[in-house]
Amino acid sequence: MRKRITKAIFPVAGLGTRFLPATKSIPKEILSLVDRPLIQYAIDEAREAGIKEFIFVTSRGKGALEDYFDSAPQLEQLLRKKNKKDLLETLKRSTMDSGEIVYIRQREALGLGHAVWCARRLIANEPFAVILPDDVIAAEKPCLKQMVEAYENTGGCMVAAMEVPPSKTSAYGILDVKEDMGSLVKVGGMVEKPNQEDAPSNLAAIGRYILTPNVLKNVGTLKKGAGGEIQLTDAIAMEIENGGGVFGFRFDGQRYDCGSKAGFLQATIAFALSRPELRDELMDFMVETVASRRAAQ
Ligand code: G1P
Repeated sequence: MRKRITKAIFPVAGLGTRFLPATKSIPKEILSLVDRPLIQYAIDEAREAGIKEFIFVTSRGKGALEDYFDSAPQLEQLLRKKNKKDLLETLKRSTMDSGEIVYIRQREALGLGHAVWCARRLIANEPFAVILPDDVIAAEKPCLKQMVEAYENTGGCMVAAMEVPPSKTSAYGILDVKEDMGSLVKVGGMVEKPNQEDAPSNLAAIGRYILTPNVLKNVGTLKKGAGGEIQLTDAIAMEIENGGGVFGFRFDGQRYDCGSKAGFLQATIAFALSRPELRDELMDFMVETVASRRAAQ
């Protein structure tokens, strides 16, 4: 039996400049799709994959995230008094038990690899997961759970993967495919944000990883990579060079890039349409709006 994956790192130190001014005073991870913050989707997915310890790598100005996961006694008391059982249940999902969640500060924005490395002492010698909350994945079986199941057979490292248009490779970590086995891919190398001409494929890493502690050791030896940052992709590439197995996993599900405004809006619409209490009204509105836009063109 492999060691179970029970720890997950959530890098949430980014400034969220693409969503200014909204993110001037609230962390972008609190921005909500309908009524659930991005971070709640990430936490729910991790829980369903068997994660027990949640490690947040934060930065200055992310206090609202800590409050979000804390209990809210006044609010709870009020809801109990009013007998609002549904809302109390909803609140429960956002409350973490003491000791279940840990916050570490990344003092300088040195890149994703560095952010993950900040958690090295808590990870010690176990395989662990990394979830980037910007990547929201709607799936019948949550993406990380799919990966944990596949990992049972493969071991090593695993990266969620998805084909992207060749013109978009410069926005992703790109996999060099050594052997394509369908949903699983044996990875022969990885490059962070290559131009289309230099990209080894158009299979991109998406924000879910299962990694070995070796990857953290590798980060410690890295020089700055793409964008002048310490890149997680480079540390995984080093793991391949050192002979470690790395697999790409083509997950089932729809990924939304909630780090971009267009992706965030698409996710908002998709999640709203999946809610019975909102669907009809929103559909009518969309049909009318599109028709009147077309008519005006
Ligand atoms: C990060 C990773 C990149 C990966 C992407 C997935 O990039 O560095 O390898 O493909 O997430 O969303 P970022 O989007 O933070 O620039």
